[in-house]
Amino acid sequence: MSDIDIQGAALITGASTGIGATYADRLAKRGQDLILVARDEARLNALAERLRAETGVKVEVIKADLTNKADLLKLEERLASDAAISTLVNNAGVAGAGDFVGSDPEAFEKMIQLNVTAVTRLAAAAARNFVPRDAGTIINLASVVGLAPEMGLPVYGATKAYVIYLTQGLRAQLAKSAVRIQAVLPGATRTEIWERSGTDINAIDPNILMDVDDMVDAALAGFDQGELITIPSLPDAADWEGAMAARAKLYPNLSRSQPADRFKTA
Ligand SMILES: NC(=O)c1ccc[n+]([C@@H]2O[C@H](COP(=O)([O-])OP(=O)(O)OC[C@H]3O[C@@H](n4cnc5c(N)ncnc54)[C@H](OP(=O)(O)O)[C@@H]3O)[C@@H](O)[C@H]2O)c1
Repeated sequence: MSDIDIQGAALITGASTGIGATYADRLAKRGQDLILVARDEARLNALAERLRAETGVKVEVIKADLTNKADLLKLEERLASDAAISTLVNNAGVAGAGDFVGSDPEAFEKMIQLNVTAVTRLAAAAARNFVPRDAGTIINLASVVGLAPEMGLPVYGATKAYVIYLTQGLRAQLAKSAVRIQAVLPGATRTEIWERSGTDINAIDPNILMDVDDMVDAALAGFDQGELITIPSLPDAADWEGAMAARAKLYPNLSRSQPADRFKTA
């Protein structure tokens, strides 16, 4: 499979730090122009300056709060209409709010606005731009939590399960299109997300915590290998394929005219 097409620019959300900033670094080093999006303009400018100096690529900065409808619509319009953009890294996200009963519902709503609504609208805008050109790349940052309801993060995990489903559904719908799509499912990765969501990163078992550089390099390697779903720490891709095969086994019986015999009352 081919690498990301670096001819156009990559728009990266949540690029001021962490995984997004690392994607910015890697894509700039591949020679791709960038559009960096986040709320912290000073951090975006500092990263942009460094990457321009180190790599010579063009870097634009857009200050936007993706939970703010006006900011989101403006970005969406740009993404849908600018033919110079060839890649979306749909990365901005928040974690936390594990306690379903005790948490402020406003925090859930904000999380859903960023992790679900903004991700969906931006992916749709990118698709409207890329599909008619039969080119372009959409990378969505999900999480392994989206596969594991037992991890105790019901709302965050649900937003990430949504991103996995959205990516798979989009792939199915665009099966004939050359637009490249990938969902990245990191495990615990060393970024500010932990502190931001009130978790002490030092309390995490170092055996399950990946360095952000390693995580993004593996995710890009997965992309270059043509993966739709990339789990950077998973040694054997056949394990994921096995899970998908188990799901596919349900298919013939998911919708039938009659209830299953085991539900029939005497
Ligand atoms: N780190 C992990 O362990 C891990 C594991 C699995 C999945 N992920 C996923 O990977 C993605 C990136 O996570 P990360 O670890 O890099 O997080 P991070 O270090 O906390 O960075 C989050 C980025 O999103 C931006 N952001 C937050 N709220 C925003 C908003 N309302 N509008 C626009 N931008 C906003 C932040 O910038 P500003 O504050 O400047 O806006 C920052 O650039 C997320 O989707 C996360 O769920 C992370």
